[in-house]
Amino acid sequence: MPRRTKVYGLLGLLALAGALPGAPSSADPDAERRQGLRHLLLHDCGSCHGLTMRGGLGRPLLPESLADKSDEALTSIILHGMPGTPMPPWAAEIDEDEALWLVTLLRGGVSLGD
Ligand code: HEC
Repeated sequence: MPRRTKVYGLLGLLALAGALPGAPSSADPDAERRQGLRHLLLHDCGSCHGLTMRGGLGRPLLPESLADKSDEALTSIILHGMPGTPMPPWAAEIDEDEALWLVTLLRGGVSLGD
């Protein structure tokens, strides 16, 4: 997978500058990638964290369970995993902006068929 951080970074800057009206201020992946990331979240993350993120083998990833954790800490866990636990690293599949976007998605609450 090509690294697209640059493109997302640029989009983020444009969004911050208000060049993209209505766009959230974080660096958002494009629509097609967002679809892929939602799929990853439900199918890959969901296999351990539960399809509705209420937890299973992995902890719940509900907005209230993540509220006291920083974006940086959660993004780092997603990218690098948690050594000594079944939580795997995802840096080979997604980049930092995409991990942050997943955190944003989880904070908003993920529901099935979203
Ligand atoms: C093979 C099972 C497995 C998969 C797949 C998995 N996780 Fe996890 N995850 C875990 C486990 C187990 C923990 C808890 C580790 C511990 O604290 O003992 C965890 C912890 C986490 C945490 C930390 C939660 C907290 O409250 O600190 C986050 C965030 C997280 N996972 C996100 C993800 C995301 C996003 C994905 C998909 C990209 C994913 N996980 C896929 C097993 C998994």
